Amino acid sequence: ALYGSDRRNSKGLDLSIESHRDRIARAVRALDDGPVLSAGPIISGKSNTGGKNKVLCPHDHSHVVGTVKWADEKDVDKAFAAAKKAQPGWDEMGAVKRADILRAMGQALEDNTERLMAIMAREAGKNLVDGIAEVREAVDFCRYYAHEAETHFNAPQKLPGPAGETNHLSLHGRGVFACISPWNFPLAIFTGQLTAALAAGNTVVAKPAEQTSLTAFEAVRLFQKAGLPKDVLHLLPGDGETIGAPLTQHPDLAGVCFTGSTDVARLIHQTLAKREGAILPLIAETGGLNAMFVDTTALREQAIDDIIVSAFGSAGQRCSALRVAFLPDDTADMLIEGLSGAIDELAFGDPSLPSTDIGPVIDADAKKLLDEHLANLPKGAKILKRAKMEGLPESQTFFAPTIIELKNLDQLERETFGPILHIVRYDPDKLDKLAPALNAKGYGLTLGVHSRLESFAKEVIEHVKVGNTYVNRSMTGAVVGVQPFGGEGLSGTGPKAGGPHYLLRFAAERTVTVNI
Ligand code: NAD
Ligand code: ALA
Repeated sequence: ALYGSDRRNSKGLDLSIESHRDRIARAVRALDDGPVLSAGPIISGKSNTGGKNKVLCPHDHSHVVGTVKWADEKDVDKAFAAAKKAQPGWDEMGAVKRADILRAMGQALEDNTERLMAIMAREAGKNLVDGIAEVREAVDFCRYYAHEAETHFNAPQKLPGPAGETNHLSLHGRGVFACISPWNFPLAIFTGQLTAALAAGNTVVAKPAEQTSLTAFEAVRLFQKAGLPKDVLHLLPGDGETIGAPLTQHPDLAGVCFTGSTDVARLIHQTLAKREGAILPLIAETGGLNAMFVDTTALREQAIDDIIVSAFGSAGQRCSALRVAFLPDDTADMLIEGLSGAIDELAFGDPSLPSTDIGPVIDADAKKLLDEHLANLPKGAKILKRAKMEGLPESQTFFAPTIIELKNLDQLERETFGPILHIVRYDPDKLDKLAPALNAKGYGLTLGVHSRLESFAKEVIEHVKVGNTYVNRSMTGAVVGVQPFGGEGLSGTGPKAGGPHYLLRFAAERTVTVNI
């Protein structure tokens, strides 16, 4: 059913095709030469722009991409009032009609791929490879959840019972969901959250990350043009610390879908726990301290390629990104030499150019955290390699991909959100100590294994508790319906986005028993 006959994942654009590259370049030029973008709250289809918050291009802070008007508490109330009123009708409309609308939303995104990529390159520093994948994933979420809703929400499921009794289980929306999304997937996760909530029969108040309101604004405009009723989705761009509380404390809230840092997930969890009234569901997808285990049988070139992509692709700004590689004593030096050489080959620069491998980190705050990590390395830890990034403009937030060797895993506690790879050497005779040490950190998102020995992979997989494991390949870029994505422990509550159980968490389940 994951590949139902009516559902295919989006093909996306192909950078090896010249006409595709031209289309993207034209969209970037049109954006750069056009007026500065403006975004703001969209409540019941009415947008309120003209704000003062400037969005600076991450790779060139002298370039103002747009301005954003942030939502205030009154906007939160207005959005909830309209969403609450619209929810019963949206639920009663039925899964088939909702699915048709979701598919039209996906089509609208696909038809506007180039412009969306251009906005993400300028607002979020997404390079073209990531931009293509991002639009594809957003389209896939629309189609996948449409398919899932039709399959499970369309008609009550008949259940067995004794003679003279019928039993039916049906799925409904819960009410108004708050969908709170991060900047690192400004389109895919933003769209995935809200389409899941909508598919299940909820209405939505969506709060994108403050860094990426322009992308979210563009997407909501497209969704409404594609036929999404104006009262079922409201957009509230804004500062998390300011409107986070009124959003998550709102009396008409029925559930929260959150993706972002573990700390903010915990804060929201506490806020929900303290509320009066109904006990609400929280779906939280958070960070990871993701490891790759490499053994002596690993294919050198392949392991090096996959480590580079996993640790430094998207400038390391993926929750799934590789943070610590365990290299065996015998081959560690050879692998480190290969990794250093591969880093020298990476190209940095304007993310909208096909030649750029690594774009900037999102903003000055993100860069500062990475700089601080390097400045405060634990005793005995050492920097093995930093990329050279010559010729880049002054006003930018590029961070040079860096490899740090740690003495042991005790020296790493938290996710470092950027292009920093830690290396820990291990003695293969003591492999059994690594998995418990890693599990003890509490995260459980992604895991990589590089080995030609099935027994090695099996042992690692058996002992490391994570949501997504990749053997002999890179460990990022989960595909909707193919690698349902999400972690456990400090990495999130589940269920997995893009997987068959996701929509159920957004639903109220009702059983009706009739004695006939
Ligand atoms: P963040 O937690 O700072 O922000 C996420 C969202 O929460 C933003 O919209 C922000 O405005 C909002 N927010 C902030 N404070 C809030 C509050 N008090 N109440 C309500 N909302 C609030 O995270 P980020 O920096 O945007 O994203 C990076 C993090 O996201 C990393 O830790 C990364 O690992 C994680 N992430 C996880 C996944 C996943 O699927 N597991 C995917 C992408 C990113
Ligand atoms: N789903 C994203 C990935 O797999 C975060 O990289």
